[in-house]
Amino acid sequence: MKKVTTRYRWGPEADFLVIGSGIAGLRAAIELCRHGRVLIVTKGSRLESNSIYAQGGVAVALNAEDDVNLHFSDTIRAGHQLGREEAARVLVEEGPTRIQELITWGTQFDKVGGKFAFTKEGAHSRNRVLRARGDATGNEMIRVLLERARQHPDIQWFDRHFTKDLLVVDGRCCGAVAVSETTGDVKLLPAAAVILTTGGAGQMYARTTNTGNATGDGMAMAYRAGVVLEDMEFVQFHPTALYLPSSPPFLLSEAMRGEGGVLRNRKGEVFMLRYHPAAEMAPRDIVARAIWSEMAALRSRHVYLDVTHLGKDFIKKRFPTIYQTCLRFDIDITEEWIPVSPSAHYFMGGLKAGIDGETTLPGLLAAGETACNGVHGANRLASNSLLEGLVFGYRAAKSAASLPAGPKRAHMKGLAARFAAEPVGALEDSEKMRNSLRRLMWTKVGLVRTGDSLIQALTQFSRWDPQIVASLRTRADLEVKNMVQVARCVTEAALWRENSLGTHYREDFPTCRGPAWKTHSQVLLESVRSSPKTRRRAG
Ligand code: SIN
Repeated sequence: MKKVTTRYRWGPEADFLVIGSGIAGLRAAIELCRHGRVLIVTKGSRLESNSIYAQGGVAVALNAEDDVNLHFSDTIRAGHQLGREEAARVLVEEGPTRIQELITWGTQFDKVGGKFAFTKEGAHSRNRVLRARGDATGNEMIRVLLERARQHPDIQWFDRHFTKDLLVVDGRCCGAVAVSETTGDVKLLPAAAVILTTGGAGQMYARTTNTGNATGDGMAMAYRAGVVLEDMEFVQFHPTALYLPSSPPFLLSEAMRGEGGVLRNRKGEVFMLRYHPAAEMAPRDIVARAIWSEMAALRSRHVYLDVTHLGKDFIKKRFPTIYQTCLRFDIDITEEWIPVSPSAHYFMGGLKAGIDGETTLPGLLAAGETACNGVHGANRLASNSLLEGLVFGYRAAKSAASLPAGPKRAHMKGLAARFAAEPVGALEDSEKMRNSLRRLMWTKVGLVRTGDSLIQALTQFSRWDPQIVASLRTRADLEVKNMVQVARCVTEAALWRENSLGTHYREDFPTCRGPAWKTHSQVLLESVRSSPKTRRRAG
């Protein structure tokens, strides 16, 4: 490897760093700027996040016939009782306030007859999903949050900067290191607290509904900094993503089934009642696995989602984005069944976090999909994720604001020198590694896993390890490195969990309840795990 000396520069002065510009990050920044200067660091464009593409809606107990206790019990039941009750309580009880606040800031949720329209989705006992512009809910919520964030002089943006690693001094997170995607310059960004809101890692699967940004960056950098990751085996596969050789796995919202859409197998038969009494409205993990079974039994690559009976006018008005997108791929969903198959969608696992976003590293907080406060248990309830971003983004900001100031730049000179001395490397062929990883995860660590398939995946990661340890510099290389590390964490946790629960299905351990079924898996960097300090703490 060529040894190159890199010059490190200081980035803009800020009290707080928010990494990521999805719903959790924006909500956190809007609260934090009341307490100091905030820098939002985001790779690519600030408009590229999973939140902005969220279709179906946001679940919240605001309907007259609903109440927070029902939302709570639906959340816990959908999560197969693994969820942390304290976190679920916070979500459902604080959710209405956060949504009302968003409405006063200008969010336009759809109404029918002057009243908010609430849809039902899988595993909800009430109609409680709010939507905007039919199927553009995330876009509308982000529009309002972005506008608000833009207006505030104490919120600065660092777009097109890839956060490479966290800065840790004396066991405390005190900033991050980011690489400019345009110039390659490396910037040190000191701060009193860092909030990670970098989303999930769906891109490590061959089929995913996620944007290209979802490469597990936050989870990977936290893991390298010695932070505990929790529940990493639980990856949610959305049951219905468009399946066409010519199209990406575009999401077909669960709300389509909520409005009466049915699933049909290759022979045209409806089948969901054979798997669950709630049929198409069963929890997501059950629907996804039922589809998988039908595909395997009939040797087909997809099933169909049929909404043709809902009527042309209704479909075009209710699902305008989906209607137009499918039309671009030559499918008129008002007349034709839509070919669909499951795709990686959401990570229940992430940085082990408390209800105020605190992680196992002081000074580092996490919210949204990249965090795991246990709210979703083994399977997230449909449309709980936008609410999660709002509620826990806000709470993480509150707790970050109470932290003492971080070390001054002058005290961090040594760190800069250490980074400058690092050798700079590059992957031989990051595109090839990315594609191999995506196929490997899909086939060995996907919807259905076995001990053997997981070990095969681990063996392949070990072959890649020597390449990914280098201090890489380009976004493409860094993303692959992050995905390989997160993939390993998912695989290790999946191998550890010798039972099937929620989204984690082991063909070799198909029953739900082994002796330790309620234990949460934890993954920690080997060097930290084996350090005498950690062992002493654990003991
Ligand atoms: C959907 O509209 O089906 C996705 C929303 C979610 O993941 O909860």
